[in-house]
Amino acid sequence: MKNIIITGGAGFIGSHVVRLFVNKYPDYHIINVDKLTYAGNLANLKDIENKPNYTFVKADICDFETIMEIFKKYNVDGVIHLAAESHVDRSIKDPFTFAQTNVMGTLSMLQAAKLTWEQLPEKWDGKRFYHISTDEVYGALEMTDPEGIEPPFTTKASSGKHHLAYGSKFFTEDLKYMPHSPYSASKASSDHFVRAFHDTYGMPTIVTNCSNNYGPYQFPEKLIPLFINNIRHRKPLPVYGKGENVRDWLYVEDHARAIDLIFHKGKIAETYNIGGFNEWKNIDIIKVVINTVDRLLGRKEGEDMDLITFVTDRAGHDMRYAIDSSKLQRELGWEPSLQFEEGIEKTVKWYLENQAWMDNITSGEYEKYYESMYANR
Ligand code: NAD
Ligand code: TYD
Repeated sequence: MKNIIITGGAGFIGSHVVRLFVNKYPDYHIINVDKLTYAGNLANLKDIENKPNYTFVKADICDFETIMEIFKKYNVDGVIHLAAESHVDRSIKDPFTFAQTNVMGTLSMLQAAKLTWEQLPEKWDGKRFYHISTDEVYGALEMTDPEGIEPPFTTKASSGKHHLAYGSKFFTEDLKYMPHSPYSASKASSDHFVRAFHDTYGMPTIVTNCSNNYGPYQFPEKLIPLFINNIRHRKPLPVYGKGENVRDWLYVEDHARAIDLIFHKGKIAETYNIGGFNEWKNIDIIKVVINTVDRLLGRKEGEDMDLITFVTDRAGHDMRYAIDSSKLQRELGWEPSLQFEEGIEKTVKWYLENQAWMDNITSGEYEKYYESMYANR
């Protein structure tokens, strides 16, 4: 029996990781440690909440004493650390919360793991601290070819209709960190602490840096779920700047599969980049989302294009993210399984079929926050 803490398991990616581990490994005990901030939602885990190998603990990762107690109580062998503040726009308004949760919270997890594990007779043997990070720590890539060029990678997923790169440079694991937003600066700092715990104390750590995820259960402040919901309700779609920024999109279950593989097979002290081989300009992805929502709702495809509203750009808006995840492909045999066209169809369908999940979030307090956030745009 392995006892594994997954932090942030009630959030978007965390809930997919918890579900995968609880279902795939009945002999593991999965302890989901989550504070349930605005982004945490136990409705994301309804289907597995009564499984015998699953425990939910409501706790703040910054609360060191409580985290120590959880380590002791559950005899923890491994940590998959996802809990974080994750939205760039919020980090611009409130950087302190990001430093607190992402830096101090990660430090508190690391220190609790260290103090617990170094006292055991077997010390680090069989233990693992796996930190989930973002490609945003590398900064921004230039967009050198706005029309798009043939990318140097091929995967099953990338043989879809759309597969272009908007520059010849990609994020590789050896790049220097150059974060620009308070969010990415806080994640970069937490990554450094994780590596420092390996280099200083010998803790068995792994860090992965992943590109933008999309799929079911994503909080509707992020581009794709926000826009799906707005199109449904025929509300304006606030496109930052000219919509030219490029992101590399990965279906969330493919990320969860990569996490499973790396947790079990990844080399200690390594970094792996995880990406979709799937670059899109925001404006292009928005058009695909509009067409898909319209079609699935029985509207005329494209009839909601006039909801597109160009608004003031995000401060310090990173131009292009593009991941080279060929190390992970080469060393551990992972690649994305879904072509983007399939992934976005599944995603839009899920949100349209789960309107109650969405309404629960978008009514009440969050609606007021969202209105105030966009009032002066
Ligand atoms: P999310 O915002 O949907 O979920 C975060 C979860 O962490 C929530 O359940 C929240 O309640 C919990 N949490 C926040 N503060 C906490 C605290 N102090 N103590 C305990 N729990 C706390 O985030 P996400 O999009 O699922 O991202 C998960 C992780 O993956 C983050 O570390 C993020 O940096 C990283 N990541 C996200 C993406 C992406 O596209 N979403 C891409 C790459 C990496
Ligand atoms: P987001 O989902 O917030 O992820 P990230 O900032 O981590 O990449 O945004 C994805 C892209 O979409 C990013 O370039 C900002 C842009 N965007 C908009 O144009 N309008 C919006 O309302 C949001 C939320 C994002």
